[in-house]
Amino acid sequence: MKSISSLMAQQPLLPIIQANNVEQGVNIAKAMFAAGLTVVEVVLRTPESLQALTAIKRALPELIVGAGTVTDEDILKQAIEAGADFIVTPAISNKLLGYLVDCGVPVLPGVSNTTDILLAREFGFTEMKLFPASLSGGAPFLKAVSSIFQDVTFCPTGGITQANKQDYLSLPNVFAVGGTWVCQPEWLNTENWQAITNSCLSAIN
Ligand code: 3PG
Repeated sequence: MKSISSLMAQQPLLPIIQANNVEQGVNIAKAMFAAGLTVVEVVLRTPESLQALTAIKRALPELIVGAGTVTDEDILKQAIEAGADFIVTPAISNKLLGYLVDCGVPVLPGVSNTTDILLAREFGFTEMKLFPASLSGGAPFLKAVSSIFQDVTFCPTGGITQANKQDYLSLPNVFAVGGTWVCQPEWLNTENWQAITNSCLSAIN
């Protein structure tokens, strides 16, 4: 199975789509795709997020669409059924990791400390999401664990901005950063899709 980092293919940003409805989700995805992004994460925390994920895949077949905020077996099954190309979790447990190892698509398990990293690695995962990155030690934490967990790489998410993204991306054990900053709520309210494209372009250049 492909790793998340190989799906990302050097894309340094994993942009988060939090859609209030299906149409909005598709428009956000189109705006991100227009910036040249080929991988996005749809977070499953709005009522229409699963339908949005499926609709995005239908509208943009070339786009690799992951499902985020997966916290239990039920949501995991629904995400896979909706067509998720990969899974992202905000946190882990033994139980959740047990389901994740058998889910059939690449997974980015969410960790926030060294115990989590060890646990996720015991289940075979070597690519992880640090969440919430800015409250879990940020770039200094990732620097500190690089010599201990030499085989683990991270996609930090939570508190990443245009201003601090490079602090993370400059670290050898970071393959991408994730976040919502490239899709501000006010742009959704005004249907300013171009602003999303522009923000994504700034984030990757
Ligand atoms: C996530 O689900 O990864 C976070 O909500 C992203 O955090 P951010 O909103 O600070 O980017």
